[in-house]
Amino acid sequence: MTIRVFENDRLAAKAAATIFASEILKKPDCIIGLATGSTPVPTYQELIRLNQEGVLDFSKVRSFNLDEYVGLAPEHPCSYRRFMNEQLFDHINIDKANTHVPSGIGDDPEKNAAEYDAAIEAAGGVDLQLLGIGHNGHIGFNEPCDRFIAPTNIVTLTDSTINANTRFFEKREDVPRKAISMGIRTIMSARRILMIATGEGKAQAVRDMICGDIDPRHPASILQAHHNVQILLDKGAASLL
Ligand code: GLP
Repeated sequence: MTIRVFENDRLAAKAAATIFASEILKKPDCIIGLATGSTPVPTYQELIRLNQEGVLDFSKVRSFNLDEYVGLAPEHPCSYRRFMNEQLFDHINIDKANTHVPSGIGDDPEKNAAEYDAAIEAAGGVDLQLLGIGHNGHIGFNEPCDRFIAPTNIVTLTDSTINANTRFFEKREDVPRKAISMGIRTIMSARRILMIATGEGKAQAVRDMICGDIDPRHPASILQAHHNVQILLDKGAASLL
């Protein structure tokens, strides 16, 4: 793992955007894995700036997002598809047909999950996967558990995640209880992984990820076993290291 600590979240975001930029410049049709939550938003703003200034061309880039809530249609204001459109895709020259977010609707979410992994594989696998981390150490929506779940699958959200994500909804009861998430094998299959964690609230989860044993009760700790992981932290997130 390469760990870099920045003075603040803006500088971490600039570094993250630079890593994406170098991947896209090197391989214009690369496959990027994207994340939701508030952490990647400053990185997306940097990518938008680079695109609008003509530095970065997304016209051939393909993307796969980590996760989606079960039961929320793409046009729902709190869906991750809508989030990605609003925070990134609507502002860059990516072809929306090349952007993928798992489907949380339809009769058979398990089938959607299996098809998502197949689509990633058929596309050639993710070149660079962006990750955030939950306060409880989750990556994607892979919650603390007694075993790592390999493929993309349907997960039950923990109370801690429901509480953390209530801020995006009108009230707690509106937060879906289930999500479809890339599994641990799916995430670990990416050729490179870039994790961003900012704020003191993430300090314990970051410590468990980096300094603890590989343990499914701290899902992000599995990243210790990946051969190419960069972790970008601000001072708050690094405060327990
Ligand atoms: C969400 C997402 C994760 C994200 C995490 C942290 O639940 N499923 O992919 O990394 O929570 O979110 P935030 O960056 O808002 O703290």
